[in-house]
Amino acid sequence: MLDIAKHLITPSARSNVPPFMVMDVMAAAARIEAAGGHVIHMEVGQPAAPAPSTAIAAAARALSGPLAYTAALGIPSLRGRIARHYRDSYGVDVDPGRVIVTTGSSAGFILAFLALFEAGARVAVATPGYPPYRHILAALGCEPVPIETTADTRWEITREMLLAAHRQKPLDGVLVASPANPTGTMIKGAALAELIEAAEGEGIRFISDEIYHGLDYAFAAETAARLSQRAVVINSFSKYFCMTGWRVGWMLAPEPLVRPIERLQQNLAISVPTLAQIAAEAAFDGRAEMEAVKHGYEENRRILIDGLPRAGLDKFLPVDGAFYLYADVSRFSADSLAFAKAMLEEAHVAATPGIDFDPVRGHHFIRFCYAGSAAEMHEAVDRIARWLGNW
Ligand SMILES: Cc1ncc(COP(=O)(O)O)c(C=O)c1O
Repeated sequence: MLDIAKHLITPSARSNVPPFMVMDVMAAAARIEAAGGHVIHMEVGQPAAPAPSTAIAAAARALSGPLAYTAALGIPSLRGRIARHYRDSYGVDVDPGRVIVTTGSSAGFILAFLALFEAGARVAVATPGYPPYRHILAALGCEPVPIETTADTRWEITREMLLAAHRQKPLDGVLVASPANPTGTMIKGAALAELIEAAEGEGIRFISDEIYHGLDYAFAAETAARLSQRAVVINSFSKYFCMTGWRVGWMLAPEPLVRPIERLQQNLAISVPTLAQIAAEAAFDGRAEMEAVKHGYEENRRILIDGLPRAGLDKFLPVDGAFYLYADVSRFSADSLAFAKAMLEEAHVAATPGIDFDPVRGHHFIRFCYAGSAAEMHEAVDRIARWLGNW
């Protein structure tokens, strides 16, 4: 091909984000299933349960009417309902004017990063951590700054770690998730308050990913909304409300950022899918159903905490919240990708290698998602025990 023609179809450098290894695990699992095997899926981080029936009924009713664009910031009654959720669930007053409806929390990150940071901004994220934080920042021309967390701090960034990184080279922002993915660990309220205070004292903008709120077992998750009006809070209907495919989330933005984000949303997406917004508002009336789903995760968590050590996987991080368990497999392998592949092929249990979340130490870890059924958890433990028994 001529150089000029090649140039026309060469992807931009910023689009060169790494793939998600979990997708490779899913593809391998699909091949086993196509050949008649029965795989227990613990690789994908999503609930097996459907959306609340209140949400489904509201969407069904809305389907027969017109589904027009909504206001860019979201349907006003949904924004009001989200604000009320902060009063009901946390006892915090939130101005509905600061609530912005987004296309899942994923779009919330894009909007927040664009509104908060110039290209070249340095934003701290924890490792292990959710890979798209790094990849979205990089695609937007910002620099993700990984901060290695350890067991001593429940695998969360502390005030000291943040300030040390900032002294090394100034940071513009920090993003924290609690409960976190892939570890399922949580930051205590007092530590979150200290961290926000330290960040804001240094002019570091604070973003709190609260997508796994509602799924806390060890202690209650604290919201950054209680601690600061300047923090950006990101959340979603995907996890607690079992609405991953509906693609609807929200964020709380400091008042001066609301109008810039509105302009960005107008231009990037016009508005969030209307049907999903209608369903999301009604989802708040389905909390009793979602609490039952949560109790199922609690039972699954108990089965794994109890069963995995007997199966041979006896080292894992505190299983505080979300629906993840991050297990150290270094006793068996220094290559978590090979370990996950072998476990899938030989035991038909699919899990995600840690390298997706931590390119360095992730070679020693795999992540299990326990959002399936209790029967699947028992079966997974039995299969892993038999498999590791022959190791
Ligand atoms: C920590 C974390 N944040 C954000 C997301 C994005 O979710 P969504 O865009 O469905 O809200 C995920 C999805 O797995 C996640 O694990």
